Amino acid sequence: MKPRTLIWLAMIGVFVAFMYQTFTSADMLPFNCSEKKDQVVHGRLLYQEGNCTSCHQLYGLGGYLGPELTTVMSQQGKGELYVRAVLEHGLGRMPKYGFSAEEIDALVAFFVYVDSTAITYRGQKNIASGGGLLIR
Ligand code: HEC
Repeated sequence: MKPRTLIWLAMIGVFVAFMYQTFTSADMLPFNCSEKKDQVVHGRLLYQEGNCTSCHQLYGLGGYLGPELTTVMSQQGKGELYVRAVLEHGLGRMPKYGFSAEEIDALVAFFVYVDSTAITYRGQKNIASGGGLLIR
């Protein structure tokens, strides 16, 4: 076989492998079942529709009336039960939205996902309880 043919075959092989990776990796997001993924997407939509970002920050971005929510699932004294209670009943200036059980599940799934991506936030002790980062 001529070297030129070999190089062509190698290039076509790499292209095919690359395309395979491109199209299959879309399903390899950090969810292990599609039901969970749907919930996270639904939760994100509720977060957008509820305009939560006008009062809350994710990754430091958003309004400052309410606390930063990026790591609300893993912060000591907070976590899933706490978030469920706040979403169901409201709290202080946090409005009671009247979410259904399904919607609360979806928002919880969304916050669990966001928390799992908060690599630089986690363990950072300088998140102010009223939101935002404390600059020392
Ligand atoms: C009008 C402003 C406002 C909006 C809009 C708002 N919140 Fe809040 N939220 C607050 C405030 C203020 C608190 C803190 C209440 C307190 O501690 O007294 C809070 C607390 C929370 C908490 C508990 C956080 C913690 O660390 O204690 C969660 C979870 C939460 N909100 C989720 C949401 C979600 C989800 C939405 C959108 C569907 C939303 N909020 C919309 C103002 C708001």
